[in-house]
Amino acid sequence: MHNEIMALKKITDPRGSLVVLEQGQGLPFAVKRCYFIYDTKGDAPRGFHAHKTLEQILLCVAGGCDLTLDDGKSKTTIRLDDPATAVHVGPMTWREMSNFTPGCVLLALASDVYDESDYIRDYGEFKKQVLS
Ligand code: TYD
Repeated sequence: MHNEIMALKKITDPRGSLVVLEQGQGLPFAVKRCYFIYDTKGDAPRGFHAHKTLEQILLCVAGGCDLTLDDGKSKTTIRLDDPATAVHVGPMTWREMSNFTPGCVLLALASDVYDESDYIRDYGEFKKQVLS
């Protein structure tokens, strides 16, 4: 499993900051899909699934949220609140997102198109598969 915090390339000048994720420049997979989550509620956590094969990069382009990652053996919570810091989430990682600030926009870059059959949405089933 590779869940890794990534410092993104940031170009800051007097006009502001620009962050870039580029193939061959640290982006760890070919991006086939991109989506974002917004209008979140601080008390409405999301996620609660793992993927069998999908890899994702998650970052908050605005605001912040907690990202809890669980590989079946240990859990870690990362505060995502910097647009220049992303997390690379590998397959077979249970994820939960919570404590969204108002105005949070959580961006996800994914290694494949949407496929419900790649999801594990039952935690007991995840534990069974990840530990087998
Ligand atoms: P869901 O997996 O519940 O989102 P989260 O991981 O934030 O809890 O997805 C919400 C709905 O959106 C669900 O019906 C599946 C659908 N969906 C797509 O159609 N395409 C996508 O790329 C994604 C990520 C979700």
